[in-house]
Amino acid sequence: MSTTYHVTHLINGEWTDDDAVDERLNPADATDTVARVAAGDAALVDRAVRAATDAQRSWAGMTGPARGAVLSGAAELLRSRIDTVARDLTREEGKTLGEATGEVRRAADVLDFFGAESWRAHGSTLPSSVPNTHVFTRREPLGVVGLITPWNFPIAIPAWKLAPALAAGNAVVMKPAQLTTVSTMHLANALIDAGLPAGVLTLVHGKGSVIGDALVKHDLVRAVSFTGSNAVGRQIGQLAAVRGIRSQLELGGKNAVIVLDDADPGVAADIIAAGAFGLTGQACTATSRVICTPGIHDAVAAALVERAAAFAPGDGLAPGVKMGPVVSESQVRTDEEYVGVAVEQGATLLTGGTRDGLLFSPTVLTEVEPQHRVAREEVFGPVVGVLRARDEDHAIDLANDADFGLSAGLVTQRLSSVAKFVERIQAGVVKVNRPTSGVDLNVPFGGIKESSNNAYREQGSQALDFYSWTKSVYVGVE
Ligand code: UN1
Repeated sequence: MSTTYHVTHLINGEWTDDDAVDERLNPADATDTVARVAAGDAALVDRAVRAATDAQRSWAGMTGPARGAVLSGAAELLRSRIDTVARDLTREEGKTLGEATGEVRRAADVLDFFGAESWRAHGSTLPSSVPNTHVFTRREPLGVVGLITPWNFPIAIPAWKLAPALAAGNAVVMKPAQLTTVSTMHLANALIDAGLPAGVLTLVHGKGSVIGDALVKHDLVRAVSFTGSNAVGRQIGQLAAVRGIRSQLELGGKNAVIVLDDADPGVAADIIAAGAFGLTGQACTATSRVICTPGIHDAVAAALVERAAAFAPGDGLAPGVKMGPVVSESQVRTDEEYVGVAVEQGATLLTGGTRDGLLFSPTVLTEVEPQHRVAREEVFGPVVGVLRARDEDHAIDLANDADFGLSAGLVTQRLSSVAKFVERIQAGVVKVNRPTSGVDLNVPFGGIKESSNNAYREQGSQALDFYSWTKSVYVGVE
C-alpha cells in the first residue's frame, strides 16, 4: 500500500490543518494518489514571514556549531529514512528509484557540508592604517530569505538552497513546486526532528503566481533564490531589483556537447545519452545539442540511436528501468510539440518522438540547424538535436551561438583542443569527457547569459556569499 500524504503548510513549527485542495498523481501510475496539497494566499505568506522574522533572531544568536549540529543531525535522519523518501520522490516526480536514491543521498551530503561550514564562517583579518587598531570582517545573516524551488530536483535543490541559508543564520520561507511537495516535507521533517527551532523553516504551498509574488514583495523578505523558468525568473528579478534586495536566479539551459573526430563514438554516445536521457532530460544541465565535426557525425548519430533504445521509458519504481515518465501532461505536450516543429523546420527524426501516456520515447534528431527552434529553446525533455560543424572552431562558435550559458561538454583526447575549448566556451559549468548534467555539491554552480542573473553562485562555500553580508569591524586597543 502506498501512502497518500496530506501536505499542509509548515508555520511556526506546526503543520497547519488546512484543507488539501490540489491532488498529485504518480506520473507512472494514475491510480496512485501521492498527495493532497494545501494552497495558501498572500495573507498566509504574511503570517509565515512574520513568524520567521521572530524565529530568526534567536537562530542567528546560536553559535555556528550549534546550527551546524542541526544540519548534520538532519543529514543522518534523512539517510536513515532513505528508502521511504526516495520511493516517494519517484512516486511524485517520476525519476527512477536509482536516480531518486542518489538525489536523497546528495541532499544529505549537502546538509553535512553546510553543517561543517557552520564551523567556519570565513571572515578575514586585515592590517589597519591606524596604529593599535584591529580590523576584521564578520559574515552577518540577511534575515528572512525566500526560496522558490522547482519540481525536477524536489529534495536536492531545496536542500542546497536552505542549508547555506540556515548555516549563515537566516530563517527560510520556502515555496516548493506544487507538483512535488512530499519530498520537501520529508526534508523539513528531518530538520524538525534534528532540533530545528520552530519558525526557522516555513513551507508555504500554492500557486507560484500567488505565493512567489507575495514572498518577493514582502517588506521583511531580504533575498529571494529561485530555480525555474526564464519567464518567471525575470519577473522575480525585476521585483527584487525594485525593492533593492538580492536575487539569485538559476534558469534554463541549451547545453551542447561537442564531439571531435578523434573521439570514440561509443564513448561519446554514452556521455551524451547520460546527459540527454538521464533524469528524463528534465534538468537545466541536460544535454540538448550535439555538435559533431564531419568525420564522426554519422557514427555518433548511429550510436545515439542504439543508446536511446536502452533508455526505453517505464515506471521508475520498476527494476531495470533507466528512464522514468515525463512529470506532467503539459510537459509531455511541450516535448511532442518541439519534435513536431523540428521536423517541420527540416530536421530528421532518427528515433523517438512518440508517447504512451506520460512515457515519452528518447528522441534523436539530426540535420538540426542553428536557427531551428529545437536548437535555440529549452525543451526540458529527453530530446537531443545533432548539428554539423565544419571544424573544431566552427563547433565552438555553434556551441556559443545560444542565449543560454549553463553547462557545456567536449569529447576528445586532444589536450590542445581541451585547452582551446575551456578558454573559449561561454558556460558556467564546463565538462570534458563527462556528461553536462551531474555536478559536485562542493563546487560553485551557476550559469551565464540567460541561464542566470550571474551575481551569486549556488553550492560550495561560495553559496554562503548570497546568504550573508560583510560587516567590517575596527577595534582600537590602546
Ligand atoms: C545537476 O545537473 O546535477 O534545475 C544539477 C537544475 C539545476 C541543477 C542541475 N539547477 O536542473
